[in-house]
Amino acid sequence: MKNAVVVGAGAMGHGIAELLAMAGLEVTIVDVDEEILKKAMDLIKWSLGKFVEKRRIREEDAKATMARLKTSMNLEDAVKSADLVVEAIAEEMGAKKDLFSKVDKAAPENAIIASNTSALSITEMGNATERPDKVVGMHFFNPPALMALVEVIKGDQTSDETVNTIVDLAKKMGKTPVICKKDVRGFLVNRVLALVFNEAFWNVYREEATKEEVDAAIKYKAGFPLGAFELADWIGLDVLYKVSKVMEEAYGEKAKLCPLVEKYFKEGKYGKKTGEGFYDWSVGMPRISFRLADKFDIDKIYAMAVNEAASLVYEDVATPGDIDVAIKLGLGWPSGPCELADKIGLDVALTKLKEMHAKYGEEMYKPSPLLEEYVSKGWLGRKAKRGFHEYE
Ligand SMILES: NC(=O)c1ccc[n+]([C@@H]2O[C@H](COP(=O)([O-])OP(=O)(O)OC[C@H]3O[C@@H](n4cnc5c(N)ncnc54)[C@H](O)[C@@H]3O)[C@@H](O)[C@H]2O)c1
Repeated sequence: MKNAVVVGAGAMGHGIAELLAMAGLEVTIVDVDEEILKKAMDLIKWSLGKFVEKRRIREEDAKATMARLKTSMNLEDAVKSADLVVEAIAEEMGAKKDLFSKVDKAAPENAIIASNTSALSITEMGNATERPDKVVGMHFFNPPALMALVEVIKGDQTSDETVNTIVDLAKKMGKTPVICKKDVRGFLVNRVLALVFNEAFWNVYREEATKEEVDAAIKYKAGFPLGAFELADWIGLDVLYKVSKVMEEAYGEKAKLCPLVEKYFKEGKYGKKTGEGFYDWSVGMPRISFRLADKFDIDKIYAMAVNEAASLVYEDVATPGDIDVAIKLGLGWPSGPCELADKIGLDVALTKLKEMHAKYGEEMYKPSPLLEEYVSKGWLGRKAKRGFHEYE
């Protein structure tokens, strides 16, 4: 693989282009906006400078990387000798399908077309081309230059060869790839995160806890880098609302959107970017007191994460190992949900889910058949030397 094209030079595109060029590929960045292209090149230069400053790369490597990058506003011309095209335009299926069809017509027959979509169907994008076997998801995390994880998503018709090529490329780019074997909405990280978010939101909506209590338990008991409400504000409630809608459409009652999110979204309180969301960001980072950590039952959050991980394994979307890696690298949790289940006991997580299901009668608390099966087989986790993983 020698020539790559990144389409869309925004928040994600410029970082992906930088990584591809650092890995030795000749890269053309395409956008419809000339100013954004200029800004993208400036941002890459700045980022490479930071890498030099931190002695991650040498000055001459930064220069050579810049020399491998160019920009264009002519898509057809840019992709005509591409081995790989990575799409990072707006999260809109119509626009993506239109782009995939154009790239398909102009790019060499054997070129791979990858999408950095957060939530949309890779299969649908593949179907907009004559080469669905060469269409794949390559989902980076923000900012791509610093986040180690890449989810590689297999569409219904994506070939194993395409998946393997992208896995190898991600490694060459210094990333840790995980394979999402099925084109499910939310892939791995956002699927687990969506259920965890929902549990946090519903508890506050039902007035069983305050957002500060939930966030304190998540930060100080679970050791996650940010509380759910902090993270939601950080991501932006506009983005979160859109992704939640996609999830609700795909999974129905299980991913039922909490009215609390809808309320903030409709009021235009998007979080950090607007200065107000769940928290008031005009006064800086939220201050969440350690003393509140015992006021919310963190096992509720664990149970949701474990159950969703079990569903992913049950549906053969990913291996427990890949799910753990994805969550640790994508969300910064100290343990992945399968490791967590093994630590706390699968029976403990199952009992918690059953309790919640009995109390609220909601679909979202229904235990995954895999969790029931493992517990009935005595695969309870570390204490039984076998859970999601095996132990000596
Ligand atoms: N921002 C994130 O945290 C994040 C993380 C992972 C994945 N993603 C996904 O990456 C993709 C890009 O997101 P972003 O945040 O970088 O968006 P962005 O709005 O910052 O950038 C999108 C860029 O695409 C350009 N563009 C739009 N249509 C185009 C077209 N037809 N041809 C060429 N350029 C076009 C726009 O001018 C813009 O510069 C989305 O699918 C998003 O869901 C975003």
